[in-house]
Amino acid sequence: MSNNLLAGKVGIISGALDSKSIAWKVAQKAHAEGARFVLTNAPLAMRMGEIKQLAEECGALIVPADATSVEELENLFSQATEHLGGKLDFVLHSIGMSPNIRKKKHYGELDYKFFQQTLDVSALSFHKMMAVAERQDAMKEWGSIVALSYIAAQRVFPDYTDMSQAKAMLESIARNYGYRLGKLKKVRVNTISQSPTKTTAGTGVGGFDAFYDYADKMSPLGNAPAEACADYCITLFSDLTRYVTMQNLLHDGGFSSTGISEDVVEALMKMNS
Ligand SMILES: NC(=O)c1ccc[n+]([C@@H]2O[C@H](COP(=O)([O-])OP(=O)(O)OC[C@H]3O[C@@H](n4cnc5c(N)ncnc54)[C@H](O)[C@@H]3O)[C@@H](O)[C@H]2O)c1
Repeated sequence: MSNNLLAGKVGIISGALDSKSIAWKVAQKAHAEGARFVLTNAPLAMRMGEIKQLAEECGALIVPADATSVEELENLFSQATEHLGGKLDFVLHSIGMSPNIRKKKHYGELDYKFFQQTLDVSALSFHKMMAVAERQDAMKEWGSIVALSYIAAQRVFPDYTDMSQAKAMLESIARNYGYRLGKLKKVRVNTISQSPTKTTAGTGVGGFDAFYDYADKMSPLGNAPAEACADYCITLFSDLTRYVTMQNLLHDGGFSSTGISEDVVEALMKMNS
């Protein structure tokens, strides 16, 4: 169902790798709500080719950009504003990757070169995007910028290793750049802290199935699916949330406010009996 919430709005959506990606659902919903946008991903992800189907479905231009490269981001923002015929209303940062998680390194044996890559890809890239947008004056007044986070920024999830620090940094960048862009351009910047979700990045984390089930059992509403996360992104891009900024918004079915649930108690009692 469409409410034309983004009619006439234009933007950039990063991170759609395949149909499981959260960004993929955001693109489909933004298209249904009347937005036009440019899709972007790392050149490596392009080779997998699936993003082309999404671009066709949404009538979107694809501009490859490694989000760690300021030069490639400059090209992305200038091509996007040129193609879309003016400044942007919204930007989605949906990018995360940890070489330490890929190599299954536990917290005590993290490789520091990898650690820096994790921070660069998953957090600093958000600052770089906004710095490029600021320099190119690419955002419209009352525009909206959103990045995706995870509760491991605040709580310990041992297998999430260096991504926990990346998410903490990402949320801090959202607050600090949110202040700056709010003052400069009345642009808002927020992070959405999403439930565990079965995507390529999500399922790459060790023990994912267990913590997916645990979070589902702990959350009174159950884990929030990717489609619902996309809906939340749409509300943040819309004019209905113009004064929400510098926030980390929990989209987790109630997980973060629950101490223990009956479902978890029951499962533990079964295990112990
Ligand atoms: N899946 C989950 O459980 C979950 C939970 C909370 C938050 N998130 C966050 O949601 C966001 C999207 O992840 P997803 O779950 O949809 O998985 P996904 O694997 O579909 O998306 C991650 C994307 O990051 C892109 N990427 C990696 N390195 C890049 C680079 N150098 N430049 C540009 N793009 C690059 C990948 O190509 C991919 O499209 C990430 O920030 C992730 O941390 C995911």
